[in-house]
Amino acid sequence: MLKQIKETADFLKTRIATNPKVGIILGTGLGNLAEQITDSITIPYQEIPNFPISTVEGHSGCLIIGKLGGKDILAMKGRFHYYEGYDMKQVTFPIRVMKLLGIETLFVSNASGGVNPDYEVGDLMVINDHLNMFPENPLRGKNYEDLGPRFPDMHEPYDKSLIDMAFEIAAENGIKLQQGVYAGTQGPTFETPAEYKYYRIIGSDAVGMSTVPEVIVANHMGMKCFGISIITDLGVPGKIVEVSHEEVQIMGNAAQPKMTLIMKELLKRIE
Ligand code: HPA
Repeated sequence: MLKQIKETADFLKTRIATNPKVGIILGTGLGNLAEQITDSITIPYQEIPNFPISTVEGHSGCLIIGKLGGKDILAMKGRFHYYEGYDMKQVTFPIRVMKLLGIETLFVSNASGGVNPDYEVGDLMVINDHLNMFPENPLRGKNYEDLGPRFPDMHEPYDKSLIDMAFEIAAENGIKLQQGVYAGTQGPTFETPAEYKYYRIIGSDAVGMSTVPEVIVANHMGMKCFGISIITDLGVPGKIVEVSHEEVQIMGNAAQPKMTLIMKELLKRIE
């Protein structure tokens, strides 16, 4: 695995003239932030050695390297989901590569179903913690000490100072912002009513099919993480309706400008 990570990082170094310290993963229907990236170069995943290829509709996979909020950044437009059939090493491979490229902070975004009864469709939720409900931990197997410890600490999986900053930005801009626990599940089914209830009972505020593997691997390597979930539907008793991927994309799209503003402002304010 290390050999492939190095090979991919070496390839990307030949294509990237800047030194980005922040990596961004754009989730389902959330690729529009990419349009605000300036001075950019785009590298389709197919051209990157060892990169898996994104298969799901709405994820047109490419790396975009450029400037946002005055900072050099590297963004993934489209991620690799466990439900697509990739194994956890593939799902998290790009995060490993990011580390070797010098990325220190990871921003992640996703669409999710709200299970907190106070939430409304279209809300943004800053992720302050997560529950790994995937059938596997991405760190299972041989540990590479060069990348991180065998038993990584997870006491602050999402950076508190970035969360505080996001709330300052939201207040200044009149954006309603929730914060809560994200449960990451394998999908691809959306939840049954009983499953939504279960995720609420065990302590989550939103549920989705991504993010947790990437954040675990980022923490393993000592990267700071910041995550935003767009609540695209509700798994709250009495409010559960039929959900489709299209609706998730439409609702995600509608909330994008608020998310983009927060991420852009965060970039301006971080060191
Ligand atoms: N469940 C799981 N994943 C999701 C949902 C949901 O309700 N909405 C968007 N992604």
